[in-house]
Amino acid sequence: MKVTVVGAGAVGASCAEYIAIKNFASEVVIVDIKENYAEGKAMDLMQTASLNGFDTKITGSTNDYSKTAGSAIAVITSGIPRKPGMTREELIGINAGIVKSVSENIIKHSPDAIIIVVSNPMDTMTYLAHQATGLPKNRIIGMGGALDSARFKYRLSEALGAPASDVDGMVIGGHSDTGMIPLTSLATRNSVPVSEFLSEEKLEEVAKATMVGGATLTGMLGTSAWYAPGAAVSAMVQAIACDTKKIFPCSTLLDGEYGLSDLCIGVPVVLGKDGIEKIVEIPLNDAEKAKLAESAAAVKKTNGLLNA
Ligand code: LAC
Repeated sequence: MKVTVVGAGAVGASCAEYIAIKNFASEVVIVDIKENYAEGKAMDLMQTASLNGFDTKITGSTNDYSKTAGSAIAVITSGIPRKPGMTREELIGINAGIVKSVSENIIKHSPDAIIIVVSNPMDTMTYLAHQATGLPKNRIIGMGGALDSARFKYRLSEALGAPASDVDGMVIGGHSDTGMIPLTSLATRNSVPVSEFLSEEKLEEVAKATMVGGATLTGMLGTSAWYAPGAAVSAMVQAIACDTKKIFPCSTLLDGEYGLSDLCIGVPVVLGKDGIEKIVEIPLNDAEKAKLAESAAAVKKTNGLLNA
């Protein structure tokens, strides 16, 4: 199983590292436009193989997509990251051109690849990857909800004083500071609703901290985060590569599901060897439904900038 990661920046490299450490892929090819940069990251990572005990072969390429040929899965992390104070939506001008040409190049050399889009504004970039490639909807997946849900579980574990492994929870909606919808009504601590342990005010605080999870880190780090984004993508790659049928909230092209169509936005899906194998429609309460409609309207507004 060959996996391509486009973009050797912090998120791309962290994604390649986690894929290698989990040892399920035979090969990871990292591509970057900066001369020798992907090759350098690949060499550095390969020098951890004997220490971390993996057999995955990691190589790098300076913009030569022929090296990616035959990839089963390709991850797009290319583009510029956020600076403190920026929204993800402000990146659209530069990142749209990059994501379009990268997705075309991937499909030229790996016509059967499943594409995972990480570049921001992610929901709009996922929609753009559909426009650029015309691939069936199961083969283009946006990474946002997997990360946002991990951040939600972190905030819940903090509030509960419990380990994150004891907590379950999901974030749907757009991958933006205002569009995310942490589903506090469904979150549990070892199958007990979290509302048994936390007040409504505390849960509201947890939800708010989750929504600005990326912005908080951008403010602290001076650029956007990479460990949790890399881990979230690698978990999705693993679910597809190993055909696990795990559920992740992912940005997917909707066609009437949740009463929405003609946009990509985060909803729960089953990931397996065919990419998105099923969109799971879960019952939402009225407040959650209203938030999803509002989040969808914001994503559509950003999508409108693509042809502006
Ligand atoms: C974040 C970026 C990956 O949320 O969107 O950290």
